[in-house]
Amino acid sequence: MSEKNSRIPGFYKLNAYERLSKLKEFADLTDEEVKIMESMSGIDIDDASNMIENAIGGISIPVGIATNFIINENEYLVPLATEEPSVIAACSNAAGLGRERGGFSAKSMGNIMRAQIQLINIDDISLAKKNILDNKSKLLELACEVTPTLSSLGGGAKDIQLKELDTKRGKMLIVEILIDCKDAMGANACNTVAESLSSRMEEISGGKSLLKIVSNLAIGRIVEASATFDKELLGGEQVVESILDASEFAHNDAYRAVTSNKGIMNGITAIAIATGQDTRAIESSVHAYASISGRYIPVTTWEKDLSGNLFGTIKIPIPVGIVGGTASVHPSSKICLKILRVKTAAQLSEIMASIGLAQNLAALRALVSEGIQEGHMKLHARNIAISAGAKGKLIEKVTEIMIQEKDVKFLRAKELIKELDK
Ligand code: MEV
Repeated sequence: MSEKNSRIPGFYKLNAYERLSKLKEFADLTDEEVKIMESMSGIDIDDASNMIENAIGGISIPVGIATNFIINENEYLVPLATEEPSVIAACSNAAGLGRERGGFSAKSMGNIMRAQIQLINIDDISLAKKNILDNKSKLLELACEVTPTLSSLGGGAKDIQLKELDTKRGKMLIVEILIDCKDAMGANACNTVAESLSSRMEEISGGKSLLKIVSNLAIGRIVEASATFDKELLGGEQVVESILDASEFAHNDAYRAVTSNKGIMNGITAIAIATGQDTRAIESSVHAYASISGRYIPVTTWEKDLSGNLFGTIKIPIPVGIVGGTASVHPSSKICLKILRVKTAAQLSEIMASIGLAQNLAALRALVSEGIQEGHMKLHARNIAISAGAKGKLIEKVTEIMIQEKDVKFLRAKELIKELDK
């Protein structure tokens, strides 16, 4: 167990500068790094112009810290970039419940990504398959030559698989090269390999290569995380039973499953943005995996253990990288990765899966008890109080009164500020 402690009582009551100073201590941030986080951006317009075409500015998304996480016996403060209120509070809350029974256990199954080459117009597909398989070692060698850094680290192309498709445009042969991307997300490596092998594939198969591109269904990057939540801390047996019923609803209805998975992605996408990941790759991978059986289902399962406590598991493919791409260049992403102290892409994906599970538990618990609007209402009232001009302690007071009165309005907030300020 690391000596750091991610349980920081009253963290949410501090102002942003006080929180940053706690974080500075936890993650050994430099003054410069603290300034970058305070600046809300990390990049200027010239950096933006180097990242994308036709840049004209930027848009800031707040980064907050989810507290209380113990994952594989290590303490984590998790940076989440999100515009949605409640996500960070919910995650921290669920992690706080989970840590009472040891926190989350998470395991990544590997870093294999898949590059696809589509071959069309092949006269004899069986012969083409045989020829490709006969040349497998030579082809893998060629593939490794175009990713020298990856190969020198023990990664690179590891296997070739073939898939025949019978389509309305005729038969096609799909060559899939399985590539160990180590700590890179790997889309570039996959695309490079696919493009560089394509002419050789044409020669061997006698066909024509068309698409050469990474597959975003990253089943070689499955991560599993689980945690036990104490029934008493959850609110008693009835809450456990209700969560099991809610989970069954999602396992039997795609309309509900999508919303449940969306809630999970509230946490996962938020950490993905904070750490400079390709959020679309992760989202498409997770949702495709949710329907891999032919039926769209939730990516979490919930059961009762022998003592009646709630045991949850999440299993999802998470294609992420900590070298190359935005993660290595965006100053804020680099700081967020430093806060997480991750050494490998696998470790980052294990944190992400745990965040997803925590988010799901928090959402289900709220939905089976007070509903989620109450929490949202509090944040909404707080935002109204702030926009009406409340400062310091007045923010909480005005928020509370508006909620009690069930009158959450800008004008009422103004009146209250005037009254309480006297
Ligand atoms: C809202 O962003 C997420 C939830 O809808 C998730 C869920 O319903 O499980 C609360």
